[in-house]
Amino acid sequence: MASRDTGRIVVGLVIFLVLASFPVWFSATQGRSDYRPELEYPAGETKCVESKEYMRTWHMDLLNQWRDSVVRKGVRTYTSDAHHTDYDMSLQNTCMKCHTNKANFCDRCHDYVGVSPKCWECHVEPRGAE
Ligand code: HEC
Ligand code: HEC
Ligand code: HEC
Repeated sequence: MASRDTGRIVVGLVIFLVLASFPVWFSATQGRSDYRPELEYPAGETKCVESKEYMRTWHMDLLNQWRDSVVRKGVRTYTSDAHHTDYDMSLQNTCMKCHTNKANFCDRCHDYVGVSPKCWECHVEPRGAE
């Protein structure tokens, strides 16, 4: 009796592991391990606030820095290190003015990496975003 249950547990476990690791072996067998979601970049714009590489890695920290500057110090102007342009430190009036397609940019990448920033309960999403 006991060994029959053990057998079932093992079979169950094997099925679970195969399913749970699906993304890993699927991308390995398809040769798509370098897959990245396709992002929609702002039309007519070539530059972000900082370089693309910097933004990819540090945008969350930059946003925190902007929030602290505005809320704690009342300082609202940010000067880009990359190209010495001034920006208003605002999530909705700066970032989302360019990145108007939140669904196909921010959300698409966040869904892919499995994060869901809770900013939009208070901050307004661009109009037309899904
Ligand atoms: C509970 C409500 C709330 C949430 C959630 C929230 N914020 Fe804010 N945030 C505010 C308020 C209020 C201000 C002050 C607005 C001002 O002074 O212009 C602010 C200001 C900011 C600012 C600077 C001003 C501006 O117009 O953007 C940034 C940047 C910012 N928040 C980023 C974020 C980010 C990123 C998140 C998500 C990780 C977030 N906030 C989540 C309420 C919130
Ligand atoms: C003036 C328009 C503009 C503003 C303002 C802007 N962006 Fe960008 N952003 C772009 C463009 C254009 C690119 C692509 C840059 C490139 O290809 O070099 C980009 C790239 C990025 C990337 C990298 C995407 C990738 O492929 O890895 C992130 C993340 C990002 N932006 C987030 C933000 C955030 C957060 C803000 C506000 C703090 C912001 N952007 C403000 C235009 C803008
Ligand atoms: C190229 C992929 C990519 C794009 C595009 C992108 N993000 Fe992110 N974002 C990430 C990753 C990865 C993290 C999680 C980093 C971590 O967990 O340390 C993150 C985290 C964040 C966080 C912090 C979340 C938290 O709970 O701490 C905020 C806020 C944020 N992103 C805002 C934005 C906004 C706004 C946009 C669109 C203008 C955007 N991101 C576009 C990849 C991206």
